[in-house]
This record gives sequence, structure tokens and C-alpha cells, in this order.
Amino acid sequence: MRLVIFGGSFNPPHKGHVSAARAVSKELKPDKLIVIPTFLPPHKALESGAPTPEQRLELCRLAFSGLPRLEVSDTEIARGGKSYTADTLRELRERYPDVELWLTVGTDMLRTLDSWYDAAYILRETKIAAVARDRGQMNLLRQKAGELRRTHRASVEIIEAKPFPAASTDIRRNLRNRGGLRLLGERVYAEIVRKRLYGVRVNLQWLRRRGYAMVRPNRVMHVRGCEEEAVRLAVQWGADPDKAAEAAILHDCTKKDPPEEQLRLCEKYGMIPDEVEINAGGRLLHAKTGAGVAAAEFGMDEDVVSAIRWHTTGKPDMTLLEKIIYMADYIEPTRNFPGVEKLRKLAYQDLDRALLLGLEMSRDEIVARGETPHVHTLTAIRWLQESLRA
Ligand SMILES: [Fe+2]
Ligand SMILES: [Fe+2]
Repeated sequence: MRLVIFGGSFNPPHKGHVSAARAVSKELKPDKLIVIPTFLPPHKALESGAPTPEQRLELCRLAFSGLPRLEVSDTEIARGGKSYTADTLRELRERYPDVELWLTVGTDMLRTLDSWYDAAYILRETKIAAVARDRGQMNLLRQKAGELRRTHRASVEIIEAKPFPAASTDIRRNLRNRGGLRLLGERVYAEIVRKRLYGVRVNLQWLRRRGYAMVRPNRVMHVRGCEEEAVRLAVQWGADPDKAAEAAILHDCTKKDPPEEQLRLCEKYGMIPDEVEINAGGRLLHAKTGAGVAAAEFGMDEDVVSAIRWHTTGKPDMTLLEKIIYMADYIEPTRNFPGVEKLRKLAYQDLDRALLLGLEMSRDEIVARGETPHVHTLTAIRWLQESLRA
């Protein structure tokens, strides 16, 4: 039986790691490939604010899922302390006394391998699969492999993987600048966004793709229009255009869900729907549940979440971003109802007066339909009337 170990900090696990795992699998045809994220790498420090070991473990599970005969192991994380490879090998040797053990290492690791803790044991006990991710490294690898064979009688095999253009450091930097996703698996990126790891700022193209997939096709134009309008209003009134875009993209993300699903989501996110909301079906509740999804599934911050939360009814003491999303939803370019032009113009002259007019129009429309306006709408109207009078 052949068992291949692939250890590393996987901070985060990226497509280069996955292609290395594939190359090793193809070349060595192991019975099992075990990916082992370190608890604490002995030879490099993790940046402060880095994900916890458990979070990296979860990212590894997502990154490597679907690869055959591959297992992600928490051996080093469960052991804690500095993650010495020799200790891990001893553990595995105990568990699998008769297997042929292989250790996967990258170029940098191979270069320093003979200075690792208990290197003699590692090189005696395992065969080394050195993965080259770039052709330029080949000579260096061959040289080092030759040296290890001579000095330690090590068994080293060089495996060529698909070239990969970035290091984890670059990916972490890119994540903070709305990039990085090209080099990560979709599920890994989604998890990084969801938990807001590495100080990620979400890529707006990615968010649009996700957001549009959550609404009915005929609503996509509205969502696009809403983003466009929200960003314009944010620039006009000095709000953060990026937050405006994020809130607009997700503001209707649960709108198509039927009332029973809205109620299920309320329960899931610990929200209590009131009677008016229940009677209005999804028309009002999607603001609450959309806010829940934005926070739980997309890691959105409080400003963005509350802008989504209040986009249907409004409320007293609305923040600038809440006002902007309420108005953008109302006046975005695909809206076409009597009075929209007046509202549009006003929104760029006096945001509060536009908001008041919007709330009043909304109230009147609900009353005309024979329904009850939400108390939040009514108190929002009173709040604006008073503050505009003052
Ligand atoms: Fe909505
Ligand atoms: Fe909307």
C-alpha cells in the first residue's frame, strides 16, 4: 500500500496546491493521499489575523473535495504545538506500519529539508515527491535531489505540476484588494468571503454573478439598475460606493422565495416576523431574510446588512446608506411609474425630502390596495416630517 502525505500551512489552499495533488496522484498512483494542514508551521510565522487552524482545515476540505482517494486530515491540528513533520510521520507509521510512505514537498521545502527537525528520520522513513511548479526550478531541484541522495541515501522523485503563477502571499494581498478568486476554487473563495478571512473585500463581479443567480431572470435588470443608482447616489451624498454596490446587488436576493421559505429563513437567522410582514407574504419579509443571507452567507458588514434590512419599509433614524438603498430601489433606471421623474430629480437635490416623498407614495399605494402600511413606514414618515420641519 502506498500512502502519500501532502502537508503545508495551506494559507489559503489554492489551485496550485490542487494541481500539485493531482500531479502527485497521477505520477505515484497512491492508495491514499493525505492532505495535512499544519497547526503551527515550524519554519514560518503566520500573519496576525490569519484564519484559525480549524478554518484552514475547512478551506482544505473545500479545496480538495472531489479528488479521488484523497483525505484531509486534522492530525497536526489535533496534536497542537509546532507541527514537526517527523512527529506526523511517526504517528502515521504507528497507524500504518507496513505502508510505503511518501512525502510531498515543494521546491522551497526540498531546499531546506535536510535542516528540518529530525531530517535523518524523515529521509530514512519516507520517499520524497518533490513537486516543481515552474520549469525554471528544475535544475535547482535536480541538484538538491542529487545531494540528498548522496548524503542521506534519500529516495527523491521530481514531479512536474502545471505551472502556477502565484504564491499564497500574493493571494492574500489580492484578496484584500477585491482579487484573488481566479487562483482559488469557487467554494474556497465563497467560504473566505462568508467568514471574511484574510481581510477579504469581496470581488464585485463574483458577487453580481452570485446575486443575479438568486433572483428571477426578469429581476436582474432591476438589480443592475439599483446598483448603478445606489453608487451614483453614494457618490452624490458622500457614502461608500462599494458598500452601496454590495447592498444593492444583494437587496432582493431572497425576493423570489415563497412565503414558507421566507418564514423558514426568518427562523434560521433568528428573526421574528410581525403580523403585517406575514400578511404581505414575501413583499416585506424579503428585506429581513435578505439581510440574514447577506450577513450569514456573504459576511456583509452591519452597514450593508441594515441597508438591505430596511429597504422595503424604511424606519426612523435611517443611516445614509439605508436611505440610499431605499431610494435606489425606488428610482433606478428601469422604474417607470407616474411621478418617478420628480422623485429621481429630488433624490439628487435633497435626499431626505425624496425619501419622505417615496415613503408617502409607498404608503398611499398600499392603502389604495386595501392593505395596511407597515408601522415602520408610518413612523419613518413622521420622523422625516419632524426633522425637516426643525
Ligand atoms: Fe426589495
Ligand atoms: Fe428591489
